[in-house]
Amino acid sequence: MATEEKELKYSAEEEHKIKLMQQEVDIVRRMSKIKHKIAVMSGKGGVGKSTIAVNLAAAFAKKGYKTGIMDVDIHGPNVPMMLGVEGKHLIFTSDGIQPVETEGIKIMSVGFFLDSLDSPVIWRGPKKTGVIKQFLSEVNWGDLDVLIIDNPPGTGDEPLTILQSVPLDGVVLVTTPQAVVQEDVRKGINLVLDSKVPIIGIVENMSGFICPHCNEEVPIFGSGNTEEMAKKMDVHFLGKLPLNVETPVSSDTGTPIVIKDPNSDIAIKISEIANYIEKTVIKKK
Ligand SMILES: Nc1ncnc2c1ncn2[C@@H]1O[C@H](COP(=O)(O)OP(=O)(O)O)[C@@H](O)[C@H]1O
Ligand SMILES: [Mg+2]
Repeated sequence: MATEEKELKYSAEEEHKIKLMQQEVDIVRRMSKIKHKIAVMSGKGGVGKSTIAVNLAAAFAKKGYKTGIMDVDIHGPNVPMMLGVEGKHLIFTSDGIQPVETEGIKIMSVGFFLDSLDSPVIWRGPKKTGVIKQFLSEVNWGDLDVLIIDNPPGTGDEPLTILQSVPLDGVVLVTTPQAVVQEDVRKGINLVLDSKVPIIGIVENMSGFICPHCNEEVPIFGSGNTEEMAKKMDVHFLGKLPLNVETPVSSDTGTPIVIKDPNSDIAIKISEIANYIEKTVIKKK
């Protein structure tokens, strides 16, 4: 007579809950292997977050740190293009998804999961949060010294999920002289302040253009005063990055400017910011 085994059955709702709990455990496990986690954020688009994130990652890799970059910009994942790894196929192993690697930087982007780079992505809030949590739980970064997290603009689901789910060392905020006078920048700062995650500082990008003919600085994007605003909001000012015509070219061809032209004004300034983060965040612990 066959013994009747009583199978433990969960309802679909219970199974979903168990899966989510397991995901939280996995996030903690994965993130605990990464010594320093730094997010790059801004209330505004097109201010240079991805450029700065990619170049900071390159600067840390150059210093010999085991470095990764995670791109959670679902609507505009530019990191693969900026590092020349667009369209790479992912490897799925029994211990998670392997990041793509170039220039000593491990890279993972939501862009790798999109069917076509031209296809517009329409994901609703809960789904976006789900995608990011899945990312955090399933990407096998291994042991890293530094992980830079590039965020989409604004104060929506993606930055919020990162602020709530990743034990961040701090946030680097980015603005431009033009954007700083707008409310979006303050909203971005307040989002981080509310989350109690430390703000490492704020960078003013595209700040003036040094005319190659007369060497005079031309304030193409106006002259909003980020330093003054930072002081008022009690946020450290990380300095100004000049407009540099080689930067978009370097991004489009997949080599960050700190690697392609380390002696350029912008590469030197980004390296100084990396030095500051090294001194205040990495070597502090
Ligand atoms: N300092 C700079 N000088 C010149 N172009 C820049 C500079 N910073 C960023 N860019 C360019 O501006 C555009 C937007 O930058 P990006 O990093 O994609 O911004 P975000 O991630 O905030 O949307 C890109 O084409 C980039 O190459
Ligand atoms: Mg971006």
